[in-house]
Amino acid sequence: MTQDVQTASAVSPKPHVGPDDYPKMYEASVSDPDGFWGEHGKRIDWIKPYTKVKNTSFTPGNIDIRWFEDGTLNVSANCVDRHLETRGDQTAIIWEPDNPADPALHITYRDLHASVCKMANVLKDLGIEKGDRVIIYLPMIPEAAYAMLACARIGAIHSIVFAGFSPDALGARINGCDAKLVITADYAPRGGRETPLKSNTDTALLHCKDSVNCLVVKRTGGQTTWTDRDHDCNALMAEAAPECPVQVMNAEDPLFILYTSGSTGQPKGVVHCTGGYLVYASMTHEIVFDYHEGDIFWCTADVGWVTGHSYIVYGPLANGATTIMFEGVPTFPDAGRFWEVCAKHKVNQFYTAPTAIRALMGAGSEWVEKHDLSDLRILGSVGEPINPEAWNWYNDVVGKGKCPIVDTFWQTETGGHMLTPLPGASKLKPGAAQQPFFGVQPVVLEPTSGDIIEGNGVEGVLCIRDSWPGQMRTVWGDHERFEKTYFSDYKGYYFSGDGCRRDEDGDYWITGRVDDVINVSGHRMGTAEVESALVAHAKVAEAAVVGYPHEVKGQGIYAYVTLMQGEEPSDDLRKELEKWVRTEIGPIAKPDLIQWAPGLPKTRSGKIMRRILRKIAEDDFGALGDTSTLADPSVVDDLIANRMNRS
Ligand code: WT7
Repeated sequence: MTQDVQTASAVSPKPHVGPDDYPKMYEASVSDPDGFWGEHGKRIDWIKPYTKVKNTSFTPGNIDIRWFEDGTLNVSANCVDRHLETRGDQTAIIWEPDNPADPALHITYRDLHASVCKMANVLKDLGIEKGDRVIIYLPMIPEAAYAMLACARIGAIHSIVFAGFSPDALGARINGCDAKLVITADYAPRGGRETPLKSNTDTALLHCKDSVNCLVVKRTGGQTTWTDRDHDCNALMAEAAPECPVQVMNAEDPLFILYTSGSTGQPKGVVHCTGGYLVYASMTHEIVFDYHEGDIFWCTADVGWVTGHSYIVYGPLANGATTIMFEGVPTFPDAGRFWEVCAKHKVNQFYTAPTAIRALMGAGSEWVEKHDLSDLRILGSVGEPINPEAWNWYNDVVGKGKCPIVDTFWQTETGGHMLTPLPGASKLKPGAAQQPFFGVQPVVLEPTSGDIIEGNGVEGVLCIRDSWPGQMRTVWGDHERFEKTYFSDYKGYYFSGDGCRRDEDGDYWITGRVDDVINVSGHRMGTAEVESALVAHAKVAEAAVVGYPHEVKGQGIYAYVTLMQGEEPSDDLRKELEKWVRTEIGPIAKPDLIQWAPGLPKTRSGKIMRRILRKIAEDDFGALGDTSTLADPSVVDDLIANRMNRS
């Protein structure tokens, strides 16, 4: 089912890119990247304008990405200071707390400037300098945005750790980037419950250098322990000066590190830099969401993920928008919360994940119908492929058939949208990410040979032919891993890790990850990470983890566990392992299904045949393929007979 081309007037009084503009602009962006980005780079303020635009190489052995490399700027000046004159009294951030009975906050650009400067001065007093790393482990409160922008202001590199991550995961990231400071809060209220962030931080810091400081924001006022390394953020900000000069940053100086899971080993620190990232985040925010002056923009993500970086904080604020920061969850206190917030704040653009859409669709359309959503103009989806049923519900029930849905495909690594329909310019197709954003050159490759597949109506792996300004620059401290992960399977291209189809019209459809990464509720999980957490348990001998289709989460986590000799499977042990993974990584990594496996299917050389495990988990064991190379084919029969019933 396809929807008609949205006419410009149905979308907004003046869409930024009309149906006739897209092909011309796209062509210009790829045939003359220097000209195109040289012009669009001017959308942000530079201290010293660049004279060079693109200087990038995807050549094996020399992966080197630079944009606007001789320009200087400051991100905090772009997101805050430059708006003071024209919109100082306009709301920059609307903060909507977890509990709807508590008041929302409206923070103007002027307030934002004062708070960011105060926080920056506090950081400076704690000895933070340009290039130092600061970990942010906060709830979705305004201080999270202040902390990001304060780091950017003084040239410190922030690395946000999602507040749902465990002390172990936090500690690994503090050590991974050798951070000098952790900014946290006493507690994180979410969905009516509270996560003890300060106590998690204390636990994490047991395994870190003594010199790491901790800056604590009071969110609930609940009790916490206090040590010599702790500093009271509220008290220090109250004393701090509301002015702080900005640090002059080179376009290629790092802005932030964000850890993300891959198919092997520990999470990698994805590095994004100052100039190209900001140009790309702000331009995609404006064009893809058809953002116009005065619009109220809501991205429901957490700032702990890249979506929150680019489309709650940096993109919207660089554009002088009003952006909503929501502390809660879609279903608290009831399944009408999202729609209540949309109505209350007259939201114009609403951006969320398919997993939330499916959960709310399951709760019933009556929750939507109770609220006045007449201000909504654009709907967005991100994180995983959206199934047509959810797309249609989103379109009909939430958008009343008049709000274009932008299904945006991108990644932590890409900094901003890569494939997406443009409102006003694209004919929408439920489930398709559709067309490349300006400057993005997707190619479909044959998975084994790596040959380019030309033409339409084809399927393969998704690679990108050349650099775009929002691209990550390196893996923190390990440039070799950057090259190995993204540029070595298919030489000369950036490999996304996803499979895709290009249909008869030339539109792209993402078919899902082709590596050992699974996508649980739009969050990326390396199966290797869950496996190493499981085998770290004393009773576990071996574990293999795969994804399986899950009605709400998209993919669920299916773990095959072989116990140590002498250990007996039991429901208690299953619960113990679930709890174990929650504490090792965090609640998002908890296996949905654990199957006791007396043996795992292995090749004679001892390699686990994941293909077979995936098929069994998907209930597709009629199509197991060749099992004759297995060391012991009988283990497969046992796994099939005892597969987990998910109904
Ligand atoms: C992976 C990246 C930056 C977005 C949030 C997740 C999947 C993302 C879509 C989409 C189909 C999507 C891909 C991608 N993905 N958006 N619209 N349609 N798949 O960021 O954690 O870095 O995960 O999410 O598999 O590789 P991430």
